[in-house]
Amino acid sequence: MKGAVMSAVRAGLPDEAVQATGWVEVGRLDDIPKRGARVVKTARGDIAIFRTMEDELFALDDRCPHKAGPLSQGIVQGRSVTCPLHNWIIDLSTGEAMGADHGCTRTVAVRLEQDRVLLSWPGAKDQAA
Ligand code: FES
Repeated sequence: MKGAVMSAVRAGLPDEAVQATGWVEVGRLDDIPKRGARVVKTARGDIAIFRTMEDELFALDDRCPHKAGPLSQGIVQGRSVTCPLHNWIIDLSTGEAMGADHGCTRTVAVRLEQDRVLLSWPGAKDQAA
């Protein structure tokens, strides 16, 4: 079920915490399959959170820098994802296209706190209001 939407946005974090930290709980690690992704909808567009085989998490805008393909539906290999539309390979840690291709997708800070997935984005405070 690649590209599924995480439904637990802000669950477990009081709005005051979001206001103070800018971090928003968006679900649990187990909500994201290994070598897969989940999408979080925000006021500034969809954000794809990727989980590698080694349980590293990366978050990027869910838009390929080529022609806006849904990266969340791509194939995760190591620390990169292959876009499902034209096979550009995007470095998950930088958002940069790899190889001969050029372009960059915005990255978003994401972290794990025990098994809680926390995401930081500029619109977090707006959404908490
Ligand atoms: S839209 Fe991603 S490779 Fe073309």
